[in-house]
Amino acid sequence: MLDPFKRDINYLRISVTDRCNLRCTYCMPETGISLLKHEDILSFEEIIEVVNVAVQSGIRKVRVTGGEPLVRKGVTSLIESIAHIEGINDLSLTTNAVLLEEFAKPLADAGLHRLNISLDTCDPDRYAAITRGGDIRKVVRGIVAAQKAGLHPIKINCVINQTSDEPDALGVKEFCKNAGLEVRFIHRMRLDKGEFSVVEGGSGGDCPQCNRLRLTADGKIKPCLFSDLEFDVRRLGPFHAITQAIQSKPECGTFSRNNQFHNIGG
Ligand code: 5AD
Ligand code: SF4
Repeated sequence: MLDPFKRDINYLRISVTDRCNLRCTYCMPETGISLLKHEDILSFEEIIEVVNVAVQSGIRKVRVTGGEPLVRKGVTSLIESIAHIEGINDLSLTTNAVLLEEFAKPLADAGLHRLNISLDTCDPDRYAAITRGGDIRKVVRGIVAAQKAGLHPIKINCVINQTSDEPDALGVKEFCKNAGLEVRFIHRMRLDKGEFSVVEGGSGGDCPQCNRLRLTADGKIKPCLFSDLEFDVRRLGPFHAITQAIQSKPECGTFSRNNQFHNIGG
């Protein structure tokens, strides 16, 4: 469906949880975050209903995100259900890959097409520092398992502070070259200060080309990452929530008081 600025909205990003098994410094406060209540989180049945309605409105691409999507119990079965929905021709997942060694094969069997993996450094100590305790060996094993499972392409998301020439970014670039992975550099954003930027090698942050909607874990359709507009699928029903979100998609983002990466998955 076209929005008022003639952009074809065909991409839905679904956050399935606000929980995460890491605490990246740029994403979460060290003490963690106030988590959503269980009853506020959409069930898989509700998510599938939203996707079915979204397909009727022209959605063709779906990405599953978090928090960390692999910490939600049964996520493989959700992927399988979405993969079976006619009209979805691109199904991807964004993960930190900590649990990927175990999940890669089941996800590929369930019908997942491709993966984005967050990796900001290849230095084990720097990784532990940035993620507040993460073990990079698990990530590397997860990437290998995903390649073996035939998930392709695998894109690496690397958050940078200033430039893609800083040491952590250079290390990631080299690792990706050797491992046959695509890499995209994402400037660290501060949404509350209106700081957002385009993704080098990606499509995010480019308002005139923006084709996406987001569904939060607690059932809000958000037309823009850089705005606080949202439409509740439980209150409005999926059809009206999606249609109203498309109709009110801003021409360009400004700033967001409420959006945070751990609840919308970037
Ligand atoms: N700025 C930019 N990207 C961020 N992400 C999380 N927090 C931020 C931030 N402050 C992105 C990372 C990660 C994905 C899950 O969300 O790219 O890979
Ligand atoms: Fe977790 Fe991703 Fe946020 Fe890191 S950036 S804390 S991996 S949700």
